[in-house]
Amino acid sequence: MKTIIEPFKIKAVEPIRQTTPEERQGYLEQAGYNLFLIHASNILIDLLTDSGTSAMSADQWAAIMRGDESYAGSESFYRMRRAVQEIFGFRHVIPTHQGRAAEHILFSVMCKPGDVVPSNTHFDTTRANIEFVGAKAVDLPVPEAADTQTRLPFKGNMDVDALRRLISEATPRRVPLILVTVTNNSAGGQPVSMENIRAVRAVADEFSIPLYLDACRFAENAYLIKLREPGYAERTPKQIAQEMFSLADGCTFSAKKDAFANIGGFLATNSDALAEREKNLLILTEGFPTYGGLAGRDLEAIAVGLEEVLHEDYLRYRIASTGYLGRHIADRGVPIVEPPGAHAIYLDARRMLPHLPPSQFPGQALAVELYRHAGIRSVEIGSLMFGENARQELVRLAIPRRVYTQSHIDYVVEAILEVNQRREQIGGLEITYQAKFLRHFTARFRPLER
Ligand code: F0G
Repeated sequence: MKTIIEPFKIKAVEPIRQTTPEERQGYLEQAGYNLFLIHASNILIDLLTDSGTSAMSADQWAAIMRGDESYAGSESFYRMRRAVQEIFGFRHVIPTHQGRAAEHILFSVMCKPGDVVPSNTHFDTTRANIEFVGAKAVDLPVPEAADTQTRLPFKGNMDVDALRRLISEATPRRVPLILVTVTNNSAGGQPVSMENIRAVRAVADEFSIPLYLDACRFAENAYLIKLREPGYAERTPKQIAQEMFSLADGCTFSAKKDAFANIGGFLATNSDALAEREKNLLILTEGFPTYGGLAGRDLEAIAVGLEEVLHEDYLRYRIASTGYLGRHIADRGVPIVEPPGAHAIYLDARRMLPHLPPSQFPGQALAVELYRHAGIRSVEIGSLMFGENARQELVRLAIPRRVYTQSHIDYVVEAILEVNQRREQIGGLEITYQAKFLRHFTARFRPLER
């Protein structure tokens, strides 16, 4: 059989609410055209993020009941740590309430003002946490990533020559760590090859700099390596993930992605000295090291989720369903970041709305139009999110794990094709309010006349 089906059936359902375009126009005005400020009950299909939005399995819900809520020494922590170490292999596992808390602790401990942290591409919270401690976050994606239309297997890779140049120019002692984000969320959700991680490791060794992975979507990256990198077709996703982590000194992780949990994360490291300082800071900001800002039941959900996310039938379906959305719109003329990755499809708003300059936020304008037209929520990843550091003007349609069925996706396809047909009529936006850090969450806009 060729048809790839959802490898699950549905035990609990949540209703979603239909609204009219006129009602949605009203919600947009109230929210200052910022989709983060719209009530979720007014969204029909929510593709804002794949983070914390997964459907948990019956096994995860069952494990939640045995959550040990002890303040210190919770059995749930030890179960979670065993599950993490089985795959990630790092000596120290420090739970946090989500990924950005792990980032904040890592950079607070490892970075000083004036330091430089290179990455294939930093995610927005990662960049903000680095800048918050006075260091500089530098993106070094491979040049091929700039062209959204080229169909290469690993456009998430880091530019290894540029990395070596940057370290030599900054001097190695100003580079406290190298960070590789798998998959490369801010650069179109593209995967990173094992060959590239290995090459970055060699540079890290050459200059004695630790290598960390931002491992949010490690299972999806592992499966894309299996599909696309020579030599990995016969390996299991777990074996590939283990190899990826064996090349690193530690990682940050958001369990809200590839652990099917609604909250949670961790920081992991092989360094005893760093772990001690990190745990001390953890106690100050997150909690005791055997719960780190999480309930025991959350630790249980993560432990079970980490095991499930590497199941091959799940990953096969995951990649196929995202690819289905991508191909059905791209093959009908909608510019997307090619080729489709795993967690999201990214519309190329610069190509789709060439009449709008970056100063009028083409990505945000397109995201607003998709909501107005069909009640679909997406997110801008471009000049609004990254300001002058933006390399592209993208709109991300992130697919929550195990949540939507194929007919939901067919509806999204139809909506995007309809919006694409009248793309010339879409006008730009002007900011009327913005915050100093991470402005995209709270900014407000005014529509400009077309
Ligand atoms: N790193 C990457 C690559 C991410 O995608 C995210 C979150 C984080 C770190 C931070 O993790 O949310 O648990 O604090 N990404 C979400 C998204 C928010 O929508 O892509 P967190």
